[in-house]
Amino acid sequence: MRRNQLGLILAALLLPALAWAFTSAKQELAQALRNVPDMKRGAQLYRQCAACHGPDGAGTKDGNNPRIAGQHVAVLVKQLVDYRHNRRWDIHMEHYAGKDLLADAQSLKDVSAYIHRLEPAAPPGRGGGELASHGANVYGRLCESCHGESALGNRQKMVPRIAGQHYDYLMRQIYDGADGRRPNFSPVHIRLFGRLDRRDIVGLSDYLSRLEPGQHGTGTVALAQ
Ligand code: HEC
Ligand code: HEC
Repeated sequence: MRRNQLGLILAALLLPALAWAFTSAKQELAQALRNVPDMKRGAQLYRQCAACHGPDGAGTKDGNNPRIAGQHVAVLVKQLVDYRHNRRWDIHMEHYAGKDLLADAQSLKDVSAYIHRLEPAAPPGRGGGELASHGANVYGRLCESCHGESALGNRQKMVPRIAGQHYDYLMRQIYDGADGRRPNFSPVHIRLFGRLDRRDIVGLSDYLSRLEPGQHGTGTVALAQ
């Protein structure tokens, strides 16, 4: 009984805080999406990101640091907002997306618009190739409806482009999603990942890492050698 009362009191105290955090994240995202980007400022802000993501936004082949170049602006902004508001967890990014370095919604927009224009020089890290065609098959059945035929995502719906991403980073995101370590995945997305076995995950990550990030819906999907 006492315990229940304590639970209720705690809930009464915590719920408004949670609701506030949720609205402030939504407001910050909406504000950043409305703002007009300043590319020069974006370039300046990006200097502190280049150490890990590379000057061209290519990330690292081992997949520790994702490729962010060319990602849709809205998707980039949303990820930064999510790291700031405890909706995506990573010790590095919670610091680098923090208000000390990116002071306001305008900074989020500036740096994201700059990253969107970057073009990586080197190809991404890829898997062994054996399961890539199995991955293509699973992709067509379970993922294409949202991420698009060529995995280029959807700007309006804030669905990320996942073509040409590093293999190891994709593997990690899928496992993190399935195991509840990435709260910004929707419940539907988490359930979907939960249905995949190891073969599917290896295949999907390998297949996606081999897709050309720049190729737009031509009907055929190019697999890099
Ligand atoms: C110390 C290394 C480091 C620095 C510096 C860094 N990042 Fe990151 N970044 C990472 C890592 C690691 C991840 C993947 C974390 C995860 O798994 O969630 C990441 C993820 C991201 C993502 C999400 C990518 C995706 O595909 O969803 C964005 C966007 C991003 N970083 C932008 C930035 C920006 C902008 C800056 C500079 C203000 C920056 N990063 C600085 C290491 C870094
Ligand atoms: C119902 C629509 C939908 C379906 C189906 C879907 N996704 Fe997603 N996916 C999304 C959205 C929306 C996001 C962005 C979530 C967020 O805001 O972080 C996302 C994010 C991702 C990310 C993270 C990208 C990054 O840069 O960190 C990966 C990886 C991914 N999806 C893979 C898949 C795979 C593999 C499948 C099929 C098994 C799939 N998705 C099916 C909508 C979908």
